[in-house]
This record gives sequence, structure tokens and C-alpha cells, in this order.
Amino acid sequence: MVDTSSFGSYEPIMPLSSSVQKPQEALLFTLSNPAMTVRLTDLGAAIVGIDVPDRDGAFEDVVLGFDDAASYYPDGQGTYFGATVGPSANRIEGATVSIDGAVYRLPANEGSNNLHTDRVRGLHAQRWQAEVYESADRIRFAYTLGAGVPGSDLELPGERAFTVAYELDGACLRMTFDAQTTAATFINLTNHSYFNLAGQASGSVADQELQLFAERFLPIDDASIPTGELRSVAGTAFDFRTPKAIGRDIEAKDEQIARGSGYDHCFCIDGYEPDDGTGQLPEPRLAARALDPASGRGMELWTSLPGLQLYTGNFIGGVVGKGGHTYENRGGFALEPQFYPATPSHPAFPNAIFTPERPYRAVTEYRFFTA
Ligand code: BGC
Repeated sequence: MVDTSSFGSYEPIMPLSSSVQKPQEALLFTLSNPAMTVRLTDLGAAIVGIDVPDRDGAFEDVVLGFDDAASYYPDGQGTYFGATVGPSANRIEGATVSIDGAVYRLPANEGSNNLHTDRVRGLHAQRWQAEVYESADRIRFAYTLGAGVPGSDLELPGERAFTVAYELDGACLRMTFDAQTTAATFINLTNHSYFNLAGQASGSVADQELQLFAERFLPIDDASIPTGELRSVAGTAFDFRTPKAIGRDIEAKDEQIARGSGYDHCFCIDGYEPDDGTGQLPEPRLAARALDPASGRGMELWTSLPGLQLYTGNFIGGVVGKGGHTYENRGGFALEPQFYPATPSHPAFPNAIFTPERPYRAVTEYRFFTA
């Protein structure tokens, strides 16, 4: 059985329905097998902890996070630790999305642009319905937006039934994201986990190695909006085609590094083919491989999605997380599989408009190993 316990209570500031009671009590679910233990909460359908072994069998929690629900909500420091972010993850230029000629306006919460939908109302800030199964290694979270309750649409069209299933398969944590909509709508979900393969409280990840299966990345303007160019990584600080320490080029004299204050860019994962529109579960591709050479803990990230945002925790310094540990800048790296940021501004980017006939489906796997 999945183990269920209290994760403490929190006060929703702007609930999407007047029937939501305050305070809310969030739950903590623990899934475990001999290879790994994963802790999840229904608040934001989020990953709270992932314990995996090093080469000597010593387990450590390798994702950043907090000890209780009240620390996750409100997301005062904007970390989005472990959360399911949506319905619009990452940035929307001008905070507007056009769909079939109609213009939808999201909150301008980062200058004139939108980041991660809304800090206190986005999917990461909602309590999802948990569906626990007989088996010890699977759970599914469900949440519906825009089901007739005023204000519950988060400014985008369609009644949208979202589900996120988490399942353990040996040393693999598989996430399956689905959304059915009643009208054409924009959907870009991600899981926003930050990894530190030496252990979440072990300091800088600069010496951990990363390989990205991406020939190209998306350069950004000075507001962090992709310009539309798909630029070759060859000869740049963004070349992770062979494994390299995350810190090696992170201070490079490079306009793109300066604009992101380090890495905060989307990589175009090689080999993306748009889905065939039938709603078949797409095949994940190998997007990233990370390794902590000291402990031998490693992880591959496989995903069906076209993009992978690498964010090296450039602004998380001072956030007090699990066990009272104060994170430092670059104390974790987020790998966020998603459609490209600012997709609505760039018609040539892979299409993230979904319809009743073209439901949203995505699969992401974290496959842990030791070396
Ligand atoms: C963004 C960063 C942001 C972080 C936390 C990432 O997805 O790319 O710019 O600081 O999320 O909100």
C-alpha cells in the first residue's frame, strides 16, 4: 500500500472556488520499493522527496524541498520546488495567448510577461484529488480547471481535466500527464524538481556532471523570453553534448549566460516528432544524464516533450528547506521537460494548443543508476 500521512495545513489565499474550506490539510504519500522511496503531496501534485542509493548503497534525498505544506504555500520565494506547474509553465510573452482569433490574458507577473501562470492560483498551488491504488508503487492526482465555477479557468478556455500519475518501476519514477479539454486551449505542464545528486542539503552542484541530448538551445532576450532562434550549442557554454561539470562554463563571458545569471534556458531535445494527434501515449526520448562523480549517484531523464529547461538555481540562495538547511545559489539544478517557453509568440515552435480531439499527453521518467 501507499503510505499516507498528514503533511500539515495551509491557508489558500485565492481559492478557485468559494466552497474551498480554510485551512486545507495536505497529505503526504510515500511510494517505495527496494530501489527508491518517493514522497509526494496532493498540494500541487508535487514531488517532496526522492531517496536513492549511492554506489555503496547509502540512500540520500536528491531533490530540494520543504518539510511541510505551509512552507510550500504560498510559494513566497517562487521556487516551485518539485511542483506540477501549469496550465502554463515557464514564460508567455506579453502574458497573452491567441487561440482561434480570441486573445486570452494571463497575469503580467514578470514585467509585462507571465511566468508559471500564477504564484497563488496555478495548478502547483491547488490541492489535487489523490487516487490511491492497491499496488504500493502507483498514485494518480486529478484536478479540473474551468468547470463552471467563476474564476476557476485561470484565464484560459475549456473545462480541462488534468491528471498526473506517478509510478515506480525499479529505479525509475515515471510521470504520465494527461489533460482532456472541452475547447481548444493552451497547455504547457512541467514537473519542477531541482536535483542535487550528492543529497539535497550538500551545497553547490557545480561539480556534478550533466549531459544534454540537445544540438540546439533557445537564446533569450533580456526579459528571458526566447527570441525564436534555435541556436547550435557548438562552441558555446551551452554545449553539454558530452558530459561536463555544471559549473565549468557557468561564469563564462557570454551574453546568454549573463541574461540567465547562469543557465536558465530551454534546450531543444534531439529527435522530437510531434504527436500523431490520436492521443496515443508518446514514446519518451533520452534528454539528459546527470552524475555526481563523488557518490556515483546518477539519473537519466527521458521525456516525450520537445524542450528541457535547465535552471541552475541561480536565485535560490537563502531559501530554508528540508531539515532547516539553507540552500545556496546553485544548490540544485532543475530539469523541466516542457513545450518551448513563449510558444504562443513563435508559430514555428511545436504546437501546444490542445483540443477535444487532440488531448494533452506527456511522459517523463527519472531513471536512477549508480556508477
Ligand atoms: C524559470 C526561472 C525561475 C524558476 C523559479 C524556472 O522555470 O526558468 O527563471 O526563476 O523557474 O520560478
